[in-house]
Amino acid sequence: MTALWTSEEAQGATLGIPGRAFEVNGLSIDTRTLKKGDLFVALKGDNRDGHDFVKAAFDAGAGAALVSHEPPGLGPDAALLTVAHTQRGLEDLAVAARARSSAKIVAVTGSAGKTTTKELLRHALGALGSTHCSAASYNNHWGVPLSLASMPRDVAYGVFEVGMNHFGELRNLVSFVRPHVALVTTIAPAHLEFFGSCEAIADAKSEIFEGLVPGGAALVPSDSPYANRLIARARQAHVGRVLKFGETAGSDARLLSYEESVDGSKVKADICGMPVDFHVGAPGRHIAQNALGALLAVAMLDGDVLNAAAGLKNFTALKGRGARFAAGDVAVIDESYNANPASMAAALALLGAAKGRRIAVLGDMLEMGEGGLAHHAGLAAPIEAAGADLVFLNGPQMKALWDKLPASRRGAWAETSAEIAPQLLAALKPGDTVLVKGSNGSRMAVIVDALKARGG
Ligand SMILES: Nc1ncnc2c1ncn2[C@@H]1O[C@H](COP(=O)(O)OP(=O)(O)OP(=O)(O)O)[C@@H](O)[C@H]1O
Ligand SMILES: [Mg+2]
Repeated sequence: MTALWTSEEAQGATLGIPGRAFEVNGLSIDTRTLKKGDLFVALKGDNRDGHDFVKAAFDAGAGAALVSHEPPGLGPDAALLTVAHTQRGLEDLAVAARARSSAKIVAVTGSAGKTTTKELLRHALGALGSTHCSAASYNNHWGVPLSLASMPRDVAYGVFEVGMNHFGELRNLVSFVRPHVALVTTIAPAHLEFFGSCEAIADAKSEIFEGLVPGGAALVPSDSPYANRLIARARQAHVGRVLKFGETAGSDARLLSYEESVDGSKVKADICGMPVDFHVGAPGRHIAQNALGALLAVAMLDGDVLNAAAGLKNFTALKGRGARFAAGDVAVIDESYNANPASMAAALALLGAAKGRRIAVLGDMLEMGEGGLAHHAGLAAPIEAAGADLVFLNGPQMKALWDKLPASRRGAWAETSAEIAPQLLAALKPGDTVLVKGSNGSRMAVIVDALKARGG
């Protein structure tokens, strides 16, 4: 097996000062998850400096370390590559990994559904050839270069999740990724307090198009109110191929029919004029829409869309993003990972498809800025559409929604998830379906854990 990085290659990429020669097969920035033989990159964060962990990294089996100075306590034969700035060194490795690769590359951004779409692409492209994807939600200033620098040299496809919470961030990150296809999942009021408007969010997401290689394709969600803005921005970035996916007539990848069951959905679609029927192993119209984007990406890479579509049946709902479990005689849809108005609506639609009593347990959506209370109150409409029978709410902003709910739907409201958990448990009856969703900071995991404990 050829190593991911030899010391010579890493030195060539970073122009660092070489120490002892090494070969590494992976990268790590965290000694707790480091694998034997990894290159440990000593990043300096706001609170911690990775240089304080270099010794621990070698103790855990690191093959080498990328540092900006030699930390004390190392043995004489520790393999170090010394650069001026380790963040920059990591980015240099990312750029070199991209430059040496002949893989076809997809970059995914959006206000919700990035990880979901990335994982759908893992299954779709994985059916066609070896595929490297970002781990977890590694989509920020270290996650993107780390994912790129970890790409094996001989894969056929690479899929990278790219995120942002300020202007200029995507432009920078996508300049490392240099995708053949740039996909925007959806535009929604997430991080609104930093941007002020959804138009501004659409513009910031559009920076992803600036990183496309010549002849690359921009993929835009046709059902979004911001579709035309995204298309205009792609054209401004001189993208020749701009395509749409969604339910709207005229979409290049178009949803024709959708049938849902608890363990997935059956989709009929038209992908660039070709009829494609497929099964996705997780229910939800939003998942089907993400799948359309993924298959359009396959088409733009000249991949075999039918085989790729067949791969989607193996996709299953991700932890905290729709994965289900039984809490005794009650079914739980765990959407506790995060929330904004778009993903709340998507999750409530999932609840709407449930049989038996439908119970929504919702926590505050954070970073919503000035219009936050209105966005919380606005959830009354998707709750109504889902036909929720009982609604439990926690967090100060959810009080605005509580005040909008008819008495018949009111379960309870409290400041914290810990206060809501016992009230929810007391209200449950056999056959209920419970949806749990809120921003990570709203600590909805407390409720998920309480439900798991109930199930034994
Ligand atoms: N296309 C979509 N439209 C609206 N909501 C969606 C869509 N896809 C997924 N979601 C919702 O968004 C939630 C988060 O999904 P996912 O983790 O894929 O998003 P993400 O963009 O990667 O989030 P993060 O920014 O935290 O990394 C899901 O649980 C689901 O409720
Ligand atoms: Mg993510």
